[in-house]
Amino acid sequence: MRPASVVPNRRHFLRFLAGSPLFAQAFAQTSAPRIASAKDALNVMEFEELAHLKLPPAHWGYMSSGVDDDATLKANMAGFKRIQLRPRRLIDVSKVDMRTELFGTVWESPIFVCPVGGHKMFHPEGELATACAARAKNALQILSTQTSTAVEDVAQALGHPPWYQLYMPQRWEDAEKLVRRVEAAGCPVLAWTIDGLAGRNLENAAKLARNDTRNCSTCHAISPEGAALRSPASAPMFKGLSSNAINPPVATWELVDRLKKLTTMKLVLKGIETREDARMCREHGVDGILVSNHGGRATEDLRPTIESLPEVIEGAGNRFRPGRRRARPGYPARRAAAHHAAMRYAVDRPDHAGIHQPGRPAVLERCEPAVSCPE
Ligand SMILES: Cc1cc2nc3c(=O)[nH]c(=O)nc-3n(C[C@H](O)[C@H](O)[C@H](O)COP(=O)(O)O)c2cc1C
Repeated sequence: MRPASVVPNRRHFLRFLAGSPLFAQAFAQTSAPRIASAKDALNVMEFEELAHLKLPPAHWGYMSSGVDDDATLKANMAGFKRIQLRPRRLIDVSKVDMRTELFGTVWESPIFVCPVGGHKMFHPEGELATACAARAKNALQILSTQTSTAVEDVAQALGHPPWYQLYMPQRWEDAEKLVRRVEAAGCPVLAWTIDGLAGRNLENAAKLARNDTRNCSTCHAISPEGAALRSPASAPMFKGLSSNAINPPVATWELVDRLKKLTTMKLVLKGIETREDARMCREHGVDGILVSNHGGRATEDLRPTIESLPEVIEGAGNRFRPGRRRARPGYPARRAAAHHAAMRYAVDRPDHAGIHQPGRPAVLERCEPAVSCPE
């Protein structure tokens, strides 16, 4: 091989590069997906590559990015890599029991389906397909207020009402209506997401949306900043409300008290990251905490969710049981963190990367459904 400095001209150099096995390998890595179908995925992260190829740029951007520079999103992933386990040996592992109890209900494993808005962006069956997979696996599903399928229909597909994630409407009268509807649907738990009250800057999603040449106005309008403004048809939980404006920035802990008085559902707060707020949850009679930074999609605080967990557990005290299963006083924070790592490997981005697949959604393929599901 001649050194590059003596390759006579640019054309020769490019020909040399094209013939190089290294180039072929690099090209293969960037242009062809490593798997042809979601069925071939060896782990959930492999869904991402296919999703990137198949989803329209704006939908991919909405799913894959965080706020500002995506730094918190990346920190979340890095945080999990710093968690270590101390495996014990020679214990009977012939029957591994992953069952997890939450508010008296036993789930097959600690993995649950996170609230994620607008599943129909990724597959026409949307939240019904997700519900089918959750049902097949006896997994908890938390339905987003930004769902593209009504809670009543999801409850039917799931076989029981899901937990409901609340985005607080701006007007209290709307909040009352929405909460009553969710309660009437039988949802046992209301998880109010409180990390978006200051607004957010989805800059990278907006940049990717610029590459989308489709006419999106058939599905929704686009704001001047590039955000999708949902139509009533794509946001069924706002039906009958005066507006689809959410996240009142004036909200304080007083609103938690009001919500507690309004509903008999268990109240969980989603988006707690500090011991101080965990203490406030305790003082205000909150029933559960979802430790979360919204997957780096709320505040660019650069702090991995998983690293917030020990201090939240400390602030919550005995009122909450961390890790749910076999939790007991003195449950070591690192162990809880590891358990939480599993809990929080909750099905969100990877699964929605999987759900877009044509035909049977990958979310179902992976979950070996035991029930009839929408094709
Ligand atoms: C595409 C996408 C949409 C999401 N939509 C919602 C939503 O509607 N409501 C909500 O509370 N969280 C939403 N989330 C956040 C997830 O529920 C979850 O908190 C996050 O992905 C995992 O990060 P965490 O471990 O910090 O919670 C969304 C996340 C993604 C990736």
